[in-house]
Amino acid sequence: MKVLLLGVTGNVGSRMLPALLARNHQVVAYVRTPSKIPSEAKSKIDSIVTGSATDSEAIKAAITSHSCDAIVNAAGVAPMTRFHSQGDFSTIFAAVVKAAALEAGRERGGAPIRCWLMSGFGILDSPKKPYMMADYIPMFPAHKPNYMLIKSHPVEELAWSLFCATQMFPRYDTPRYPADTDAASNLVAKSDAPPAWTERFRCVPLIGNYLNVMAQSQSCFSVLENCVDFMAADLEMGLRSEWVGKRVGVMEKSKVKAV
Ligand SMILES: NC(=O)c1ccc[n+]([C@@H]2O[C@H](COP(=O)([O-])OP(=O)(O)OC[C@H]3O[C@@H](n4cnc5c(N)ncnc54)[C@H](OP(=O)(O)O)[C@@H]3O)[C@@H](O)[C@H]2O)c1
Repeated sequence: MKVLLLGVTGNVGSRMLPALLARNHQVVAYVRTPSKIPSEAKSKIDSIVTGSATDSEAIKAAITSHSCDAIVNAAGVAPMTRFHSQGDFSTIFAAVVKAAALEAGRERGGAPIRCWLMSGFGILDSPKKPYMMADYIPMFPAHKPNYMLIKSHPVEELAWSLFCATQMFPRYDTPRYPADTDAASNLVAKSDAPPAWTERFRCVPLIGNYLNVMAQSQSCFSVLENCVDFMAADLEMGLRSEWVGKRVGVMEKSKVKAV
């Protein structure tokens, strides 16, 4: 696919680039400071568009002028609590959804744009529905309204998926070319809930659920290179992906047996 990548100068986006290239996607990078892109990466990118990820008109123009059929948004950082500076994370999310997906999608007609957006563990369902993880541990509060926003759009209009990781730790200090295309096979994934749920603290009175959610979130710590390859591999499926319209939780296969 031809992918518009936002956030290529960040931890996730810089590793997403080699992952996309290894899966034979073409990449158009959308950045506010092109000079921050290392020369090795620059030489492999199809085109670079300069702009702010809060500018929906500019994102839409980038998609339409480069005929992109997919977007990966790794721009902006979710604030950890409501007491931290909220920054422009939610503005970026809304700009990508509005411009990139809806307006550019509508304008070109036909198939919707395929879209992976970074989100968080907190918006996954707990088995004790209707609760989400964030109802127990209210961290990264921006993810829930973002989810509500994107959920209001039918997948026929916008083929979205939300990547709901907790912490992702890079295996290597810097992005590697070529990226490992076996990396995604190290993960198990589940739609809308964390994989391999256990009820470890069920017997603890009052705070059992809270302890359990905290434990699950730690069990879902993952390797960043595995996560980006997961999304890059999924983009090969285009609109046939099983993850369209889903929140996606992941866990390292090596941890599944341990929990
Ligand atoms: N890292 C994790 O473990 C983890 C876990 C779960 C979810 N996530 C989510 O994944 C996303 C990426 O995280 P990260 O660790 O890669 O963050 P990061 O290293 O801080 O990267 C953030 C990226 O966003 C770009 N950006 C910020 N504001 C922008 C704007 N107005 N216009 C254009 N680009 C803008 C930055 O560009 P500049 O270089 O120009 O500043 C940078 O490329 C975040 O949404 C985060 O919440 C991360």
